[in-house]
Formats: sequence, C-alpha cells, structure tokens
Amino acid sequence: MSTSLRVQHSPALRGSGNVPADKSITHRAVILAALAEGGSRIRNALTGGDCRATVEVIRALGVQVEQTSPNELLVHGRGLYGLQAPSDSLNCINSGTTMRLLAGVLAAQTFSSRLTGSDQLCRRPMSRIIEPLRAMGANIKDHNGNPPLDIFGQRSALHGIAYQLPVASAQLKSCLLLAGLWAEGSTTVVEERKTRDHTERMLHAMGTEIRIDDAFISIDHQRRPLRPLDTTIPGDLSSAAFLIVAATIVPGSELTIPGVGVNPTRTGIIHALIEMGAAIELNNERLIGGEPVADITVRYASLRGATFDGDRIVTMIDELPVLAVAATQASGTTTIRDAVELRVKETDRIATTTNELGRLGAQVTPLEDGMTIDGGAPLQGTEVNSHGDHRLAMSLAIAGLVASGETTINDARVAADSFPAFYECLASLGATVEDR
Ligand code: S3P
Repeated sequence: MSTSLRVQHSPALRGSGNVPADKSITHRAVILAALAEGGSRIRNALTGGDCRATVEVIRALGVQVEQTSPNELLVHGRGLYGLQAPSDSLNCINSGTTMRLLAGVLAAQTFSSRLTGSDQLCRRPMSRIIEPLRAMGANIKDHNGNPPLDIFGQRSALHGIAYQLPVASAQLKSCLLLAGLWAEGSTTVVEERKTRDHTERMLHAMGTEIRIDDAFISIDHQRRPLRPLDTTIPGDLSSAAFLIVAATIVPGSELTIPGVGVNPTRTGIIHALIEMGAAIELNNERLIGGEPVADITVRYASLRGATFDGDRIVTMIDELPVLAVAATQASGTTTIRDAVELRVKETDRIATTTNELGRLGAQVTPLEDGMTIDGGAPLQGTEVNSHGDHRLAMSLAIAGLVASGETTINDARVAADSFPAFYECLASLGATVEDR
C-alpha cells in the first residue's frame, strides 16, 4: 500500500470511533506476563507497530507468546528466573518504551544481550536509564549515550538505590522498578512530577508489594513469583486524542469513543481541551484491569487559546502535537511551555510540528521548551511529511480535515506504530482519505 495518503477538507464527522488498545499498558502487560509464573491472557492487546517489537523481543528471550486471536495474546511466563539468552541482538525497531523498560530487565539477567533499533531509535537518549542502572551495579556499554546498548547481565551485583528522577519519564521510572525486582534490598524512585503509573498498578495486581507514598515509589527484591495476568487492555487515550480533536474542530461533528483509558496521569489533553472550550463528556466510568476507563462523547465547539505549562505537561506529553492542531482553530494565542522532552521523542516534535503545521499556513512559533500558536490563520492543504513519526502523521491528518482542499501526508502509514487502522477509522466517521 502507498505510504502517501490524501486527506480532503471534511464534512462533519459522526458515529462511533473505536481506538486500539493502550500502547503503554500493552508493553507492560507483555513484559510482566513474561516474568510471571504461568500463562497470562491479555485481551484487546495492541498487536501492531511498537508493541509487536516488544512481543518479538520477549519471544527472543525464550518466552512463548501465542496470538490466540487478532487482539488476544497468551504469554507463557517463565518466572523471574526463566528468561533465556537471545541468539541475536534484540531489535526494538522504533519503540523507546521497549528499549528502556527491557534494559531494566536485561541488566538483572545472568546473560548478555544487545538492544538495538531503527536509526530513529538509535538517535534517542539512553543516558537517563544507563546512569541510574550503573548506580545499581549494572554493566552496560552504550554509544555516546545512544543505542545500541550492550548489557552484560550481572544479577548478583545489582542493589537497590534511592533515585530522584531528573526527567519526568515513566519509561525511566519503570526501567528502575523492573530492575528493582531482582536488586538486593529496595529500590526507590522519587518523582517530582507524577508520570503515568501503569507499571505500578500492574505490579500491584500481580502480587508484588510495591509501596507508593506520594512522590516515593519503592519495590523490594522479589522472593515470591509474580501472579499471571488475566486482563483486558483499555483503549488508548493517546490515540483517542486525535479523534477528540477532530470532532472538536470539524464543524457539526459528534463522536463517541467507547472504552478509553482515563487514568488521571494521562488525562491532561481532556482537561486542556475543556479549558479551551471543548465539549467533551466522560460517561460510564468504570475500572478495567485496575485502570479507569470511560466512554467519551465529543461535539464540535469553538475554542479559545490558553497557556499550558508546569506539572500538567507530563500528563499530555504525547498529545501536544495534536493539541497544537486544535490551537490553530482557536481564537487567540495558545502557549505550550516546559515541554523540552518533545525534542527527544520519535522526532524533535517542537521542530517537526512547527515546520509541518507551518507548511499548511498555521502560525506556529517554536520556543526552546514548547511553542506558541496564533489561532485563526486559515489552513491550506498542501504536501506535508510525517518524518517517520506516528503522532505527527496523525496530527497532520487531523489538520488536513480543516485545511482547504487536499492535504497529502508523506510516510503516513507510520501511524500504525500506535494506531494501525487510524485512516480507516477516520474514513468510517465520514472523512475522505485516499491513497495518493
Ligand atoms: C511512555 C512514556 C512517555 C511517553 C511514551 C510512552 C511509557 O515517554 O511519551 O510515548 O509507556 O512509559 P517518557 O517516559 O520518555 O516520558
């Protein structure tokens, strides 16, 4: 299939949009299920893109993972001491979560391994995990702070540390908590800004005594096996965000999105859009697999600019590119600050978002740690580029719905890293999306 797609200026979007399973939670479920004693059933797993990389790496470590239906995985966990040495390097493809979480696991094995990935992933910073893992006694060779990572597993040398996160990163927090399962004593992570807590929720559900006291999260060396999972992964709010923004900015739209995870560490985008004037309702709130879930209804609304900074940024870090798209349709100026982490995502999302939205005619100015968007400039369809970044591809498609004429997105299919049927979903709601 062509990787360039054309999106037309859209009439109202209507109906029910199904979003795929949460990417962050699927990664964790597969990794932790591999370490559990016995079979774990993971329903509604995300089986495309980034999570497939995690499944393949876990298989390469000797764990049988059966795909029992398109969205269901049966992971035959080998226990905390059952992973096997891989015969080749472990390819994380584009997935930072795969690499950073598994580095914590592999540092605590008794064999050596190499974590590598795409050129894009090999440009992303790994010192944030390597330094604290080394402080725990790990032996890791990096390439100037980047992948590939050669990890010389030395379980018996690992000891717990107390570590204040210098960057608000759930991947870093999770990496250290995972290494802490084997480290002597206890491992404590202190976070100034609360990042997504899926790892903690899942470790708790699997029977570990993880202690959470405000900003302090501690885990002890595990003497008992992890209980297998029997769980259903909620829909991904980070994927739903594209549909939420689409319905908010395309006049006359009304959408429902069932079964979306609304963990409070992730809902910054909903609060931000509501503050700008969006009409978003959460209905039928419930708990699924220890995670809060709701059905979301969104109607078209006119937006006004606002300022987003400080602690709330981490709760919407992945949604900032599409928030910028919403801001192009708002009256007044929207300012995003304290988001320097955007520079080290799949692309430098400050640069790529400002440049690509700029091509469509948006008035976006990059800042060192964010951007300003002067809303109201009419967008005109043209050719834009995803730069191989799934969230940028989808953000540009949403911008294309309100741009005049036709918007061509090059390398559009990279959306499958997190939302395999994204364009088909948009089309089912009334948008026109065609191969180039
Ligand atoms: C993720 C954490 C965030 C997020 C990424 C997924 C996770 O990254 O941007 O998409 O699953 O833990 P950081 O930990 O680098 O902030």
